[in-house]
Amino acid sequence: MIGNLNHVAIVVPDLEAGTAIYRDTLGAKVSAPADIPEHGVTTVFVELPNTKIELLHPLGENSPVAKFLEKNPNGGVHHVCYEVEDIQAAAQKMVAQGARVLGSVKIGAHNKPVLFLHPKDFCGTLVELEQA
Ligand code: CO
Repeated sequence: MIGNLNHVAIVVPDLEAGTAIYRDTLGAKVSAPADIPEHGVTTVFVELPNTKIELLHPLGENSPVAKFLEKNPNGGVHHVCYEVEDIQAAAQKMVAQGARVLGSVKIGAHNKPVLFLHPKDFCGTLVELEQA
């Protein structure tokens, strides 16, 4: 069912420092930082030939990544995002298989429908499905 790896999201304690690591140390193409208030994050996209890395930093008081940073002060991998053709069909399949779906289908950071799956059902990794 899942297709391409759309992105890996990494929470960073310092967005400028994280951007510099990807741009200067690793030599990748990086975007300017973008605030996404409705998701409580500031993001920098790292463009790789076959996928993306999203650097995430908390924005505002109720940021969903603030707690993650408290537990992981050096930052770390937050989630992986796989593409699916039909998000509603994917959601139904996950529920039918007994996997825990977090909330409902929402519009994600790329203005496409996304769904998050519980890490306890997916090898300890938060999984995002995005309708490609
Ligand atoms: Co994501």
